[in-house]
Amino acid sequence: MAISKTPEGNIPVPQLDEVALETLAVRAGQIRSPELEHSEAIFPTSSFVFNSAQEAAQRFAGEVPGNIYARFTNPTVAMFEQRIAALEGGERAVAAASGMAAILSTFMALLQQGDHILCSKSVFGTTRVLLDKYLSKFGIEVSYVALGDYDGWQSGLRDNTRMLFLETPSNPLCEIVDLPRVAAIAQNAEALLVVDNCFCTPVLQQPFRLGADIVVHSATKYLDGQGRCLGGVVIGSEQLMEEVHGFLRSAGPAMSPFNAWVFLKGLETLPVRMKAHSEHALKVAVWLEQQSGIERVYYSDLESHPDYALAQKQQVSGSGVLSFEIKGDRAAAWRFIDAMEFISITANLGDVKSTITHPATTTHGRLTEEDKLDAGITDNLIRLSVGLEHPEDVIRDLKRGLSALQSQR
Ligand SMILES: Cc1ncc(COP(=O)(O)O)c(C=O)c1O
Repeated sequence: MAISKTPEGNIPVPQLDEVALETLAVRAGQIRSPELEHSEAIFPTSSFVFNSAQEAAQRFAGEVPGNIYARFTNPTVAMFEQRIAALEGGERAVAAASGMAAILSTFMALLQQGDHILCSKSVFGTTRVLLDKYLSKFGIEVSYVALGDYDGWQSGLRDNTRMLFLETPSNPLCEIVDLPRVAAIAQNAEALLVVDNCFCTPVLQQPFRLGADIVVHSATKYLDGQGRCLGGVVIGSEQLMEEVHGFLRSAGPAMSPFNAWVFLKGLETLPVRMKAHSEHALKVAVWLEQQSGIERVYYSDLESHPDYALAQKQQVSGSGVLSFEIKGDRAAAWRFIDAMEFISITANLGDVKSTITHPATTTHGRLTEEDKLDAGITDNLIRLSVGLEHPEDVIRDLKRGLSALQSQR
């Protein structure tokens, strides 16, 4: 056991060089207080005391390390940041109050008036609203490209393009982009590639190994995994994250220590949960594909998915999220959803409880009809986040949806 020197004294902490991801998920980032607690401590405090006025001045001036105020740093939040940074293989992570706060902080810290951001059409609906309605007010230009349109990524570049932003797999169609290919385009243009890794998590895909400059997460999803807390995180180089942290400490959307603790606990089981989510989702996807009431299933580990080969190369496996088009219209899709006995009708995903959503009228409801169709969000599309109930029980619930389709035809 190595000894770490802290202001409080000598605290034993394990060295974690060259350990596996599963070990990092449980052990990375823990800071033990002088109480030597085994499980990570929650520090529910808004500020921290100094031993003297001189020490206060030195900490504010950055001359001595240490906590000042919880909008800037908090030990529980720092533990979460260090653990997720270790899992993603990034230099530094900065936590935020939600996934959207993490995305906003990335934009606000690293873009300025007159810059252009080239974004995938298939990103979370609110990310598009943030860009179109709010960032544009501050003179940041945005344009969109289909995720898999590599010529479009190249030709969409402008002289002022500073950032490329995408999700892979996309929400909700599970489209996959060749990350090294887009990373090369970004690098040639001296623009930053930002990847929202919410669906895969570092367990299934590590974007830094594939050329990304920045990874963002809605920790609200799989990182928590049990639908308890809102949170987000941005990961990248020390230099870039210093800027993101600077915005966050000034603007204020910091992560609460309680939420950070929940996410720390979530990360401990992330590798086993992701494996189970993937296995269950594949079983459900294979079953759905065989049903006559289903038009099409979108899941990247199905051979029928257009990006199947890329998924095999780039991801350990598909995540727990899939989507499918039923044979019918919006009313039929709603009947299908309403027939669920235990699968929850809710907008969240990445939970141990399976959840079902109608993207066109919920998560992507604020997009124009044209933008929805462009992003493949049709009225008969349903998104399913397969949880950790027994997959046969999930299938039994989905059969109720199929029966509801037939009964009303
Ligand atoms: C892919 C993706 N990114 C970002 C977000 C935003 O995260 P949050 O709800 O934590 O703000 C979501 C939320 O659903 C999402 O699905």
